[in-house]
Amino acid sequence: MPQSVSVIVLAAGAGTRMKSALPKVLHTLSGRAMIDYPVMAALAVSDDVQVVLFHEAERLEAHINEEFPLAKCVRQDHLRFPGTGGAVMAAAPKHDRIVVLNGDMPLIDAGFVRSLAAGRADATLAVFISPNPTGYGRVVIKKDRVLRIVEEKDADAETKAINTINGGAYAFSAHFLRENLPKLTNQNAQNEFYITDLIALANESGREVSAVWGDSEILMGVNSKAELAIAENIHQARLKESLMIRGVLMRLPETIFIDANATFEGECVVENGVVVLGKSRVTRSTIKAHSVIEDSIVTDSDVGPFAHLRPNCEISNTHIGNFVETKKARLNGVKAGHLSYLGDVEIDEGTNIGAGTITCNYDGKNKHKTVIGKNVFIGSDTQLVAPVTIPDNVLIGAGTTVTKNPNEGDLVLSRSPQKSFAGFFARFFGKKP
Ligand code: UD1
Ligand code: MG
Repeated sequence: MPQSVSVIVLAAGAGTRMKSALPKVLHTLSGRAMIDYPVMAALAVSDDVQVVLFHEAERLEAHINEEFPLAKCVRQDHLRFPGTGGAVMAAAPKHDRIVVLNGDMPLIDAGFVRSLAAGRADATLAVFISPNPTGYGRVVIKKDRVLRIVEEKDADAETKAINTINGGAYAFSAHFLRENLPKLTNQNAQNEFYITDLIALANESGREVSAVWGDSEILMGVNSKAELAIAENIHQARLKESLMIRGVLMRLPETIFIDANATFEGECVVENGVVVLGKSRVTRSTIKAHSVIEDSIVTDSDVGPFAHLRPNCEISNTHIGNFVETKKARLNGVKAGHLSYLGDVEIDEGTNIGAGTITCNYDGKNKHKTVIGKNVFIGSDTQLVAPVTIPDNVLIGAGTTVTKNPNEGDLVLSRSPQKSFAGFFARFFGKKP
């Protein structure tokens, strides 16, 4: 790190344009809260990260404390000093160089924060060119000099036509902020104290202003659910590309959703329409089309198509076929090829689960466990009424409802005997079959 830097992340806004009860920066992008991304980028670069909060402060503070114990939360005096400039006033950065990041820029990375931190100018801002600058602050540049930022709501038609926009990431020297934050006013369309006015103030006092150029794939701000979808798409493309480079084969990757917390090891195949959520860990496995994996571990196995692994499954050396749902299931060396519900269950090596097998794990009040040993053959359409334990080497006939624990080596059946009535068809319908 060239010099020590403090990073202030602004997350005190109301997020009105999200039209949601959930605070804007807690909306997720690839499974992680939007605020996590600038905070992670900041923590990669700085030992002094301060997150400014006001709206839903307690909820956000709980999230930050849990995810990032090294980041510090501070409160904006929003009633007296609303706006992004007011938010900066709340922080007490300890270093001489200070980076400020909007909390709603989830595509930012540590490299970009580093390049902002590396400059020497008293005021630096991130800019990018957008074919559709609506909503962003326009950056007025004359003869290569950045003069000021004009917010959309304060801009005249000529300024609105500028497509060089403020990315919402800045770097300042501490003495410049000390001198100029008190000079901010709220004489603007939103009656807020804008951080963006610091650029004009820097020019007025003859300070150097510099720009770091980026693009929308790094600097895009998210104010609405429509923008969240665009940003998530970019983030997903980036995440999947890095997984493919590391050896994961993906079929039609644009149809696949991977959580930022999920990990892949060894050669894996992920087919189209697959969703991998939470802290799932997939190792040397194939996940076939349209399967959903939530917070589960899959090792040396194949899953799907159309399978659903709900949270807390550990699947190893196992074949899971279509329309199989598992939950809290530990399967090792198992074949469950078709149409099953396997919940709260442990199944051991060599066991075959017939089509239509259901673990009846819920009695209406409590959940109960099913334990199935090695080399068990479970016939189709078997119900295992939990709690129940099937020892090794048991054969269960198709259509059995198992309510009692069998002994090792048993054949288990619960069928009413089949009856046939000769010639019944013709008598009943009055014609030959
Ligand atoms: C802001 C910039 C705009 C820039 C755009 C980039 C200002 C005035 N405008 O606009 O020039 O092009 O970002 O995305 O800065 N916040 C606070 N306290 C507040 C208000 C906001 O902490 O009182 C936080 C928000 O939680 C958010 C960030 O600051 O994370 C930016 O606020 P937002 O309302 O999204 O600003 P934009 O309208 O997007
Ligand atoms: Mg914004």
